[in-house]
Amino acid sequence: MRTHYCGELRKEHIGETVTFYGWIDRRRDHGGVIFLDLRDRSGIVQIVSDPQRTPDSYEYANTLRNEYVVKITGRVTQRPEESLNTRIPTGEVEIYADKIELLNAVRKQLPFQVSVADTETVREDLRLKYRYLDLRRDRMAQNLQLRHQIVKAMRRYLEDLEGFIEVETPILTRSTPEGARDYVLPSRVNPGEWYALPQSPQLFKQLLMVSGLDRYYQIARCFRDEDLRADRQPEFTQLDMEMSFMSQEEIIELNENLVCHIYKTVKGIELQRPFPRLTYAEGMERYGSDKPDTRYGLELVDVSDIVKDSSFKVFRDTVINGGIVKILPIPNGNDVISNVRIKPGGDLFKEASEAGAKGLAFIRVRDDGEIDTIGAIKDNLSEEQKQEILRRTGAKAGHLLLFGAGEAATVNKTLDRLRQAIAKEFNLIDPEKINLLWITDFPMFEWNADEKRLEALHHPFTAPHPDDLSDLKTARAQAYDLILNGVEVGGGSLRIYQREIQQQVFEAIGLSPEEAQSKFGFLLEAFEYGTPPHGGIAYGLDRLVMLLAGEESIRDVIAFPKTQQARCLLTDAPSSVDAKQLKELHVASTYKPKS
Ligand code: AMO
Repeated sequence: MRTHYCGELRKEHIGETVTFYGWIDRRRDHGGVIFLDLRDRSGIVQIVSDPQRTPDSYEYANTLRNEYVVKITGRVTQRPEESLNTRIPTGEVEIYADKIELLNAVRKQLPFQVSVADTETVREDLRLKYRYLDLRRDRMAQNLQLRHQIVKAMRRYLEDLEGFIEVETPILTRSTPEGARDYVLPSRVNPGEWYALPQSPQLFKQLLMVSGLDRYYQIARCFRDEDLRADRQPEFTQLDMEMSFMSQEEIIELNENLVCHIYKTVKGIELQRPFPRLTYAEGMERYGSDKPDTRYGLELVDVSDIVKDSSFKVFRDTVINGGIVKILPIPNGNDVISNVRIKPGGDLFKEASEAGAKGLAFIRVRDDGEIDTIGAIKDNLSEEQKQEILRRTGAKAGHLLLFGAGEAATVNKTLDRLRQAIAKEFNLIDPEKINLLWITDFPMFEWNADEKRLEALHHPFTAPHPDDLSDLKTARAQAYDLILNGVEVGGGSLRIYQREIQQQVFEAIGLSPEEAQSKFGFLLEAFEYGTPPHGGIAYGLDRLVMLLAGEESIRDVIAFPKTQQARCLLTDAPSSVDAKQLKELHVASTYKPKS
């Protein structure tokens, strides 16, 4: 029945009679001639109806309104010179509608305009409530198509060029630790017992290596009950991969080729390989971050050794107590950033204090080169120390130097936030740049101050560096993250495949042998039946699509996302359930609604 999609019609089709379906994007009445823009997922084509050329359809065309669903049969004709439209691919032709069939009308007022011609910004809650209409709009329709193209490129590369096999892993499972809270589901047939939804397919993909699958991938849904942000959703999708008998170098090379293939296929862009690399320690030192945006400079400079002997107590004590003092040098910052913004109540001070900083000392280099400091720094840094700081930071006339002093983690977090804020304000970010970067040599563990124990920085199945086995607690991990323009788009590692090392790592994170056995006994046992050396990686598919689409939130590349409160505004989930259902599940709620 359908001969073409709307967006396919071109000059070559002139003279043909065609049939297609779609939605009325817009209807215009030009003095007795009716123009309809008909839209389907492929694009838009112009339909013409008037009493002379299309007498059969004219009366009908007059009654159509936006978003009505129609079937149209008509003749493809050349548009007159004055109405050629170079902005759309079908802009050289129009269709004389011989027959228009109304398949369904719109019976309610549309909550917002859907037309491609409409550029009005619509409130996100309204878009999410009527998501099916929002997905008809050009931007979202394009994002979904791009997402599909990216997944297709991934599959083609992995399956056809590298021999990966897709395997589905369970959604109803046990806890798979990736550092977030689990979503849990009560079991009806096993009273008092619970499934956890997977935070990732980590354990199953490792077991598939034990099974000899060799190269596995999956477009996998993951669930994490954590605080939501623009790049985090409670359920999200990973491109998840695992492979046997490959070194870290081989895994990185294969993955660079995969990412190059995606960019080439989807965007026509040739990326340069190999991608740059930084160790975790270098990333922290130079950018205060393990996911630095390297599209701009603003590198941090450690001056702990210069200020440790100063008479400024804060700096001196910080260094004596094992802390650090670092500087964010801002070229041309002196004129633009006033003292008010750096002192309590100011926006930069607020940014710093949200990261845990107590204050922001600073040095200004005036336009005439004179060094200007205020407050405690003024009298407590010697001329020599000031000159050494200028030399090390490369500061010139017009620079503003912002200091962070304290525990390394807090200083880095503070200066990382300020660095990002300043880059935005000073327009230092080139949106055309595609900066991919591997971060390697992560520490195995980080200190969880709340729980007073070490916790795995990635997950507890990550293999320690072979040179660091003598002291696991300070060991580096054989782990690697892929960063794209300051966003962590993927992360992976070589895995532990020997029972003894796995047990030592469980011990290091405070799991007793009994707990380790009860939670991960199946994995430890599997290691005893001939487990190959293996490793893998997972990409955040939503984040990757977001960056390729130039969007700022992953909600704009997910068909039916949740809000920041983890709600679906379309279906109004989560919702309450019947008492009967809860009873069957052997569950009683302790929640008391506020009266
Ligand atoms: P990781 O926890 O780093 O590793 O996750 C891999 C990638 O998934 C994305 N991601 C998210 N995207 C959206 N919303 C979230 N809540 C969210 N959390 C993570 C990120 C991240 O880089 N099993 C390991 C992988 C491995 O070792 O092979 C894992 O899940 O882009």
